[in-house]
Amino acid sequence: MFLVRTAARTAVRTNSCRSFCVSHTQLSDRKVSLASERQKQSILWTSQGNKDFPCVALVGLGKNNAGVCRTENWDTSKENIRQAVSAGCRLLQDLEVSHVEVDSCGDAQSAAEGAVLGLFHYDQLKSKKKTKVTTQLHGSADVVGWEKGIVYAEGQNLARLLMEAPANHITPTAFAKTIEEKLAPHADRVTIHKRPQAWIEEQQMGAFLSVSKGSEEPPVFLELHYNGSPDSKQPPLLLVGKGITFDSGGISLKPSASMDAMRADMGGAATVCASIVTAASLKLPVNIVGLAPLCENMPSGKATKPGDVVKAKNGKTIQVDNTDAEGRLILADALCYGHVFNPRAIVNVATLTGAMDVALGSAAAGVFTNSDWLWEQLHRASVVTGDRVWRMPLFQHYTKQVTDSQLADLNNIGKYSRSGGACTAAAFLREFVKAPHWAHLDIAGVMSNKDEVPYLRKGMSGRPTRTLVEFAAGLAHNG
Ligand code: BES
Ligand code: ZN
Ligand code: ZN
Repeated sequence: MFLVRTAARTAVRTNSCRSFCVSHTQLSDRKVSLASERQKQSILWTSQGNKDFPCVALVGLGKNNAGVCRTENWDTSKENIRQAVSAGCRLLQDLEVSHVEVDSCGDAQSAAEGAVLGLFHYDQLKSKKKTKVTTQLHGSADVVGWEKGIVYAEGQNLARLLMEAPANHITPTAFAKTIEEKLAPHADRVTIHKRPQAWIEEQQMGAFLSVSKGSEEPPVFLELHYNGSPDSKQPPLLLVGKGITFDSGGISLKPSASMDAMRADMGGAATVCASIVTAASLKLPVNIVGLAPLCENMPSGKATKPGDVVKAKNGKTIQVDNTDAEGRLILADALCYGHVFNPRAIVNVATLTGAMDVALGSAAAGVFTNSDWLWEQLHRASVVTGDRVWRMPLFQHYTKQVTDSQLADLNNIGKYSRSGGACTAAAFLREFVKAPHWAHLDIAGVMSNKDEVPYLRKGMSGRPTRTLVEFAAGLAHNG
């Protein structure tokens, strides 16, 4: 019924869902049926289009020129386009259409993002796979924007792939190898170090090693250098990502229900590394250093026990009262190390606390920062991408709760355990930062998608990769 050559036009610009009727009238000579209707969107498809487009999906775009919404903190027009195009493409994919030509809807980048994000489906390990759909911009207007959107979305899809993959496939070693392969085409601007356990020991990263030692899988400290700036001496942007390829909780074992989701506890590392791959593809004129401490958090006879005291790279001692608060331990050492690059800004990204999900859910990643400038840069980027951030407090109030330890300088959990858990975790990280422009993004709440973001299918989200890329592009633009 659907030829390989089959193409379809999606997302015809309309002013409201009433224009569904307009579309219907225009297509009245064809067989048209309503395929799905949700909120502002109506999708029509016809199986008897003309010879160029034997199959057509029409999607309502909502209000024209909706623009930036100050209460939603995103660009509603862009979000509508992403949503509409993804819905149209998915509909055609379900009909086993293998090539889709997409209308730019007036914003080719957003249209491309909607198409590529909407079509992503992790079925690598299944025998029966969804139809592979190729996409193309209809017409020649704004090819540059279209291509940029493809690269942004493919970056997020790389993070989704790494996060969704099972932990027996994406071990620390396999993660590093995947990123190395993805960066291979950019070897002229990229240097990669896969630091082994011996190097981590030499560096005296006692906090990182205290997490990795419960596992049979060797840890890897992945270090990426992207030199995109014409000025090779330009201080880099430092991105640091939590890379726990599986978080069982360690001796403070997690309950087994939903523990499988902890295969995505390397979401910080995945989004950071994917954004560097994307920056390299875009040839952004900026220098970036990426650090990803990668290991598993497992219980064993060699694992760290609650109450053990370990020493971080900067000499600070930490009482590990809960081995499930492991992300802050591996990040502590990575943050200490990162200062050697004299970065212009440090941004760390981590699926750090369940409390972050309690606070904001999947609406936005929490940003804890000591810099108003850095907050503004991240916020601006997130309004453009629709993958939002929201500022959270870094009060001394929380610092007091992690610096009051019976045996050591710090305790890895706040003394009132559950209260303000995302904030005490951020206060803990701050103890390892000397730089004036640092931000910690807690992405635990945005790690996975059920149906909240309509242009992402259910599964690990790869958020906020596009926001990190847009942020880096902003820094590149500002020199
Ligand atoms: N990886 C988890 C946080 C998490 C939870 C991420 C849910 C994504 C979804 C983290 O290592 C963790 O277990 N944190 C503990 C900290 C607590 C022991 C202070 C938590 O949030 O319960
Ligand atoms: Zn944990
Ligand atoms: Zn964790």
